[in-house]
Amino acid sequence: MEDFIIKIKNLSKRFGTQEVLRELNLDIPRAKITVIIGRSGGGKSVLLKHIIGLLKPDSGQILVDGVDIVTADEKTLNNTRKKFGMLFQEGALFDSLNIADNVGFPLFEHTKMAPNEIYERVDYVLGLVGLRGAEKKYPSEISGGMRKRASLARAIISNPEVIMFDEPTSGLDPIMSDVIDNLIVDIQEKLKVTCIVISHDIKSTFKIAHKVAMLYNGKIIAEGSPEDMRNNDNPYVKQFLEGKSKGPIAVGD
Ligand SMILES: Nc1ncnc2c1ncn2[C@@H]1O[C@H](COP(=O)(O)OP(=O)(O)OP(=O)(O)O)[C@@H](O)[C@H]1O
Ligand SMILES: [Mg+2]
Repeated sequence: MEDFIIKIKNLSKRFGTQEVLRELNLDIPRAKITVIIGRSGGGKSVLLKHIIGLLKPDSGQILVDGVDIVTADEKTLNNTRKKFGMLFQEGALFDSLNIADNVGFPLFEHTKMAPNEIYERVDYVLGLVGLRGAEKKYPSEISGGMRKRASLARAIISNPEVIMFDEPTSGLDPIMSDVIDNLIVDIQEKLKVTCIVISHDIKSTFKIAHKVAMLYNGKIIAEGSPEDMRNNDNPYVKQFLEGKSKGPIAVGD
């Protein structure tokens, strides 16, 4: 039987009158790469924020290793959060800290590790993302691709069991996107972590995913291997995978 690290059951969330998630169900396999696709504004980032406990649903369950983080007390929630590393859509590096201190930040903030130990670990993760030598630079002094890599280094420095990537390749040129995709695959294999990736990019999705799930209208309407998705007959899925703006989804729908 497949081993799922996260099980999401009947998750619903509305903001005011806007229903963003509607009784959504999704299981995330352990130590695999799951890519969540769906159109802009569909609720992908909202879903991710629920999984790390930054947003509370109106109803439903999110089981992380069997623990429901929706009803968990503060202490349990904090312990569960330690399992996660997150690469935010905006990157979210601190402008006033150099790369080494940005990447080491979670360890300075949440552990009692000595600075020299932290910088050793910073050196290791910067090596993993190919950023050795940029330690002393500030975010404004490096390229967008390098900033993504620095954010990735920061997301993995605490040795998380689950890494979430919100649009890791958005705003990057095709070559840099490919570099980031290869890094995700590499890091997943090296660290045996569970990766949850949100993507707009179909080519990249098919390249890195073990499992693909498509969010539409507040639900997961299709899921499976890349092969399963290619063979899916749902017109919304086909339209999305073919990247067409015309089809069953009207503009502004
Ligand atoms: N904190 C919030 N308060 C009110 N509305 C919100 C909040 N967060 C998100 N929304 C709304 O929920 C919907 C889904 O947003 P979300 O950011 O999850 O989309 P997305 O699928 O990640 O889109 P994109 O691909 O453009 O990043 C949007 O209409 C957004 O305006
Ligand atoms: Mg988003």
